[in-house]
Amino acid sequence: MKRILSGIKPSGELNIGGYGGALHQFVKMQHDFECFFFVPDLHAITVPQDPKELFQRSKDIAAFYIAAGIDPKKATIFIQSHVPAHVELGWIMETQVHFGELSRMTQFKEKSDGKDSVSSALFTYPALMAADILLYQATHVPVGEDQKQHLEMTRDLAARFNSRFEKTFVIPEPIIPTIGSRIMGLDDPTKKMSKSNPNKNSYVLLLDSPADIRKKLARAVTDSEMSVRYDWDNKPAVSNLIEIYAVFSGESTETIERRYEGQGYGGFKKDLAEVVVEKLVPIQERYRDIIDSDVLIRILKEGAMRASETAQITLVQAKRAMGFVTF
Ligand code: AMP
Ligand code: TRP
Repeated sequence: MKRILSGIKPSGELNIGGYGGALHQFVKMQHDFECFFFVPDLHAITVPQDPKELFQRSKDIAAFYIAAGIDPKKATIFIQSHVPAHVELGWIMETQVHFGELSRMTQFKEKSDGKDSVSSALFTYPALMAADILLYQATHVPVGEDQKQHLEMTRDLAARFNSRFEKTFVIPEPIIPTIGSRIMGLDDPTKKMSKSNPNKNSYVLLLDSPADIRKKLARAVTDSEMSVRYDWDNKPAVSNLIEIYAVFSGESTETIERRYEGQGYGGFKKDLAEVVVEKLVPIQERYRDIIDSDVLIRILKEGAMRASETAQITLVQAKRAMGFVTF
């Protein structure tokens, strides 16, 4: 049986980068896999979080899963901190990972760069991420490009544990989409689109109003040569916009290129905004319907129960393999 586990950190408002690399992939894949989609709140607190914001954003991510079209009857949707097995296996994984391996993680280097002090949890984060995945014996993990290195570490840790003790964990495969796995900033196509960018025009949030979406996409940087061509080496800014268009319309980049052949950027950018608005407005409506509802609470409670059942089985197997006294 093919099984997916993945999640989006509740560490800031969700933007269309996370939609392209993760959320939209989750929705597409739910029919072909048994799915676990979670809110990694324990990962969010590796950097300081305002309690009120963490509370709201954790609910937001769960609501967006449902609003974007994940069916809670089929997929298990839960909040990481509701399933304590993550912390327990996370600790076990910390005993298996080496200091040197963690030191090579580019995400840690980026996030700690220039900071006076960072939490030790930011450093050990990949061990917890490995635990998240291995607890569910996930065969596949859909993520954006930036998580590839963490996935490789998860595979190494699973293999190391299996050979050191006994075969306990499935070795998971990453699924990195060819289109949408690395959406870049609207102001600078060399930097990943990110909510931590102080320039608000560099990203489109999933909850931005249609007027803001239109304004931000109209202002997006382009390239000097005036043709709509998908060519990352020579036209990164326009290629990024074509990729966003492809994610939101479901069309191929070739189809989009052909449609705008011989035309300038004006019409293309206007249409792009409409494609994004058309997709996001119904998601925003469904989000507003469920964000403060009992339905969301019920889904998350049931999700945590279902997730715990699966996670507990793996945790006990791992502990037994290591020599812990278990009954
Ligand atoms: P995060 O919000 O950092 O937890 O990211 C959630 C998921 O979205 C992960 O799978 C990331 O790889 C993916 N992601 C985040 N930012 C982007 C981006 N700019 N382009 C594509 N995928 C992204
Ligand atoms: N580290 C991921 C991110 O920053 C979030 C995450 C935590 C995750 N645990 C995971 C993603 C397990 C996939 C599977 O985006």
